[in-house]
Amino acid sequence: MYGRVRSLFLRPESSEDVFPMTPFIIEKTETPTDPVKRTELLANPAFGRVFTDHMALISYSADKGWHDAKITPRRPLSIDPASTVLHYGQEIFEGMKAYREKDGHVATFRPEANASRFAASARRMGMAELPEDLFVQAVDELVRVDQDWVPSGEGQSLYLRPFMISNEVFLGVKPATEYLFIVIACPVGAYFSSGCVSVWVSEHYTRAAIGGTGEAKCGGNYAGSLIAQAEAKDKGCDQVLFLDARERRFVEEMGGMNVMFVRKDGKIVTPPLGGTILRGITRNSLIQLAADQGIEVVEEPVDIDELFSGAASGKYTEAFACGTAAVLSPIGKFMRPTGEAVFGDGKTPGPVSQQLKKALTDVQGGRTNDVHGWIHRIS
Ligand code: PLP
Ligand code: COI
Repeated sequence: MYGRVRSLFLRPESSEDVFPMTPFIIEKTETPTDPVKRTELLANPAFGRVFTDHMALISYSADKGWHDAKITPRRPLSIDPASTVLHYGQEIFEGMKAYREKDGHVATFRPEANASRFAASARRMGMAELPEDLFVQAVDELVRVDQDWVPSGEGQSLYLRPFMISNEVFLGVKPATEYLFIVIACPVGAYFSSGCVSVWVSEHYTRAAIGGTGEAKCGGNYAGSLIAQAEAKDKGCDQVLFLDARERRFVEEMGGMNVMFVRKDGKIVTPPLGGTILRGITRNSLIQLAADQGIEVVEEPVDIDELFSGAASGKYTEAFACGTAAVLSPIGKFMRPTGEAVFGDGKTPGPVSQQLKKALTDVQGGRTNDVHGWIHRIS
């Protein structure tokens, strides 16, 4: 059994919280991707379609705890048809990236924040909590083995997908006693192909209610959002924006990213965290980077009607999505059945969006001083 559970959310770190490194068995593939082929794949990877050669795996059972940590060749899983995840959907995941730094080293960005959110998601979903150090170590071990897959082009990175499924062979409805934690990786470029994204406001479907799972990064939240995302696509938009479930009045977040608005008074406004939206690590980092530049970020409800009228009157001057996959993606316009809210000419990113994106990507790419200690160097 490895480590104990530690939560950065629940109690401060103490000397007791220092874990020994867990021994990982490293089984490298005998058929690695040919370097010429890999270079071709890295040139222009579509998001989430190209995968590296290996994966990290750790098993959990109630009697053994976390055990059998390993890096193995990436391969399909063999799952019993009665495995609990296939029936009751106990599944959580994270999204993070490894970057090729300016000096050639490879680093992740705030991995301990992903580890902490993963543990919080596990608690909400009644799943076993993976010790946070073990989460970070698993990602490090995989990135080290697959480090040649970290691309160096502008806007490129190695997207990491840690996830956990319940895997008990049992059809009773209760939290499972067995789990599988896995990390897979894929080289990626930009999530959106256009410079400014268009967003459909979902007036019918909502994403999360108070007391629900909105704050957890669980697959079920995304499953429930896909019909609204499909509706957005039908309307010619790149993404969907969800409103609060009670009144369908206040902006919450998008299908896979948080949202921020720039006001004419120079302040940025973003919906507050209140249990129904994801505690975005990019959101949190941008709030800090904006403060570093003397820009105030106000976390307060944004009324959708006021946003539409404010875009027309000039009260709101810019909007952008933020998340690991999306980085900072300027929003050109929001659409709903009764009209559009357009920012600027709808095609050109605004100055505040550009300035914050540069600040964020400069830290991630090792092009500026890491004053907040966000960079976690792996190789
Ligand atoms: N909101 C949702 C629904 C997401 O899927 C994501 C992406 O992970 C985010 C927000 C942004 O979170 P982060 O910045 O931690 O990637
Ligand atoms: C991420 O940004 O990591 C996500 O999980 C969101 C998804 C749109 C890829």
